[in-house]
Order: sequence, then C-alpha cells, then structure tokens
Amino acid sequence: MKNFFIVIVAMVSGISGMLFGYDTGVISGAILFIKQEYPLLLLLPFLQELVISAVLIGAIIGAIIGGSLADRYGRRKMIIIAAIIFAGGAIGTSLTFNIIFLIIGRVIVGIAIGMASFIAPLYISEMSPPRIRGSLVSLNQLFITIGIVISYLVDYALTPISGWRYMLGLAAIPAIILLIAMIFMPSSPRWLVNNGEMEKARSTLIEIRRTNDINNELNEISTSLDKQKGGRKNLFNPLIRPAMIVGISLAIFQQVTGINTVIYYAPTIFEFAGFQSAAAAIFATIFVGIVNVLFTLVAIFLLDRVGRRKLLLLGLTGMSGMLIMLGIVFFLPSLLNQLGTLAAISLISYVGFFAIGLGPVFWLLISEIYPLKVRGLAMSIVTVANWGSNLIIALTFLTLIQLMGRTGTFWLYAVVGILALIFTYTYVPETKGRTLEEIEEHWRGGKHPRELGR
Ligand code: BGC
Repeated sequence: MKNFFIVIVAMVSGISGMLFGYDTGVISGAILFIKQEYPLLLLLPFLQELVISAVLIGAIIGAIIGGSLADRYGRRKMIIIAAIIFAGGAIGTSLTFNIIFLIIGRVIVGIAIGMASFIAPLYISEMSPPRIRGSLVSLNQLFITIGIVISYLVDYALTPISGWRYMLGLAAIPAIILLIAMIFMPSSPRWLVNNGEMEKARSTLIEIRRTNDINNELNEISTSLDKQKGGRKNLFNPLIRPAMIVGISLAIFQQVTGINTVIYYAPTIFEFAGFQSAAAAIFATIFVGIVNVLFTLVAIFLLDRVGRRKLLLLGLTGMSGMLIMLGIVFFLPSLLNQLGTLAAISLISYVGFFAIGLGPVFWLLISEIYPLKVRGLAMSIVTVANWGSNLIIALTFLTLIQLMGRTGTFWLYAVVGILALIFTYTYVPETKGRTLEEIEEHWRGGKHPRELGR
C-alpha cells in the first residue's frame, strides 16, 4: 500500500493524542482518592479545583511556548521533547509526596499536552498527501478520544484499590513508546524546506511518498515559501487576518459549546438526569466515551469525501439541537424519572455530533490554513485560545448551574452553538483536496475565506 508509511507516521505521532486524552480524562476518577489521602483538599475546595485544572493551566503554557519552538527546532523534535515531559510528569505525579508537588507535576504534564495538542496535527498535516490529509490528521483526534475512554476504564478498574498513583503513573508507558518510536520518524519535509535543508526534504518526500516523482511537490513548497515575506510579522498582515479569525473563533467555539462539561462532569450530569447509583452513572460515562470514539471514526471516513465544512455544519446543528433538548428535559423536573432516558439520549447524541464535526474539524483546519513560515506560531496562538476557553468553562460550569440552573446553562451553550453555526456558514473555508500551498495562495489573493473550495 502506497500510503502505508505515512499512516504509520500519523499513528505514531497520534500516540501523543492518546496521552492528551488520557491525561485530561484520568483526573475525574483519581481525584476521589487523592481527596482521601490529602484531607486538606476537602477543607479547601479551591485547592481541589487547582488539582483538576492544573493540566489546563499547563496546556496554556505549553501552547504558548510550543509554537516558536516548533518553527525553530522542527515538529518532530518537539514531539520528542513533549514525550519526555509526558513520561517525567507521569512518573513524578505518581510518586509525589505532597499536594503542592502534585499540582506542579500536573502543570508539567499539561505543558506536554499543550505542545502536543497542536504540534502533532501540524506534523501530520505537513506530511500528508492532500487527498487523505483530513483522515490522517484526524487520527490524532481519534487517539484523543481513545485516550479518554482508556482513562475512564483504568479509573474504573483501579477503584477497588484506590490506586490513584497508578492511574496517573500508567501514562508513562505510552509516553515512552512515543519517545522511542518518534526517534525513527522523519522530519516534516515542509519544515525542512523552510529551514533550508532541501536535500533532506527531497529524500524524506521520496521516503514518505514511496516514489521518486516528487519534484512538483518540492517545487510547489519552495515557490510558495519564496512568496512569503516578513516571517513572523506576517502573522499580523491583513491577508492572514481572516485565517486567524477562523482559527481563534473555532478554538473558542469548540470549548464554549460545552463539550468538556460532559467529558469532565458526565457522571454529575447523569446524576442530575436521575441515574440513581454511582455505578450506573460511571457506566453511562464510559458509554459516552465509546460513542465519542465511534463517531470520530465516522468523521475520519467522511472528512476527505464530504468535506470539512459540511461536517462542521451538520455537527453544530446537531449539537445545538441536543443542547436545547437537554435544557427542555431539565426544565420539567417533575417528570424527570420518565425523562431521564431522554436526557441520556440527548447527551450521548450531543457527543456524537461533536465527534463528527467540531472535535476533529477544528484541529484539522488549523493545521491547514496557515502559511508555512508562521504555521507553528499561528497554531500556537489559536491553541492558547482553545485551552484558555477550556479552563474558563471548567472553572465556571458548576457556578453557572448554581446561577442559571441546568436549563439556563445548557441553553446558553446552545446559543453559542447557533452562533458557531452562523459563523461557520458565512466564514469557514473548505480545504478538502487542496494542497497546503494552494490554501496559502488563496490568502495571498486577498479573497474571502469561504471562496476557497468553491
Ligand atoms: C478537544 C478537547 C476534548 C476532546 C473530546 C478535543 O478536540 O480539544 O477539549 O476534550 O476533543 O473528544
């Protein structure tokens, strides 16, 4: 198979996606036992919130520093560095002997997540042939969802022994596998060209395309690069501005439509919906994770056939509809018992719609729409917006429920979903089947984003 090698490359770097999912998901179960060992957390709820959100704070830091490093030292090297931090953070947090070290350790794990979250899609995107780039980049999202399910299962399995240290420490295994495997992976040919290493770029392209016929692609990359002036200042150039608006808006929409309230608080929501036992709520949560994986697989199948825009529009319509429905269900508390099932169905469908659209499409689009010279930096800014919004939602969800009630909160997310739908319809480009250089050329023409792909 011609694309065998590139699929392997995408899967290997996708292990960092698995760590992203695992390390963000694992804390929901681990925190129960961390509280038992450190009763201080019960006295100071603020400290508990800090343990939970430390990863998000770290991810913001990782996203800030990762961009220029990925442009300077290359995508592959930065994934290797992230793998080392992942492994160190996992071992460190599992051996910690006080709460402050635990928090610092989680921030460090977060730094690796923040870096890997955008450098892996960037790396895969730059290696992929245009025809299957959507599927390959979204393998990273698939791994994120698999990581989340594994974290739920591990939490569940280790509950009888209260094994929070194992829960956190087990992440070292995939991190070490990632580290070793990445050493054998090639550098991104586009980054090599940008770095002036033409011969290496040529041999890498021959290796990953499995053909000697790579001159056109190489020429296209270097011609496109020659046309870009001004390096980093380019980022604030009016021609790139539309791409920045697309990226930052989708980053915020991906979080502010509430996905992580479900990923982080699913058992709580299922309890609202009338699921009596904790075991039932946990089981339902695992089911949510599996639906997330399955629909991401559907997206991987469709992205390069149907296109990014259509899936995003479909996904956002479904998510908004399901959020409205959840609001209605919670509006009728007296009927809650009968409606509990309906709430569960809405919640699970909401996750399915996320997985088919906003989940994979956001990370995919931002790996495609920026010019090579500033790609790392631009993605890092957008990724900061994503993790920043994630943190805000994580810190405000329970307060919002207190202030606005469940119905109000879900309807608020629904309003954001509808705004995202309008924004996508009017502004988001279609990148299916285009080379990254064709996409750059589009911005140089000063055209509206939506005209791309028409
Ligand atoms: C988002 C994460 C989310 C995950 C759920 C990712 O695309 O960035 O915040 O937890 O999807 O599958």
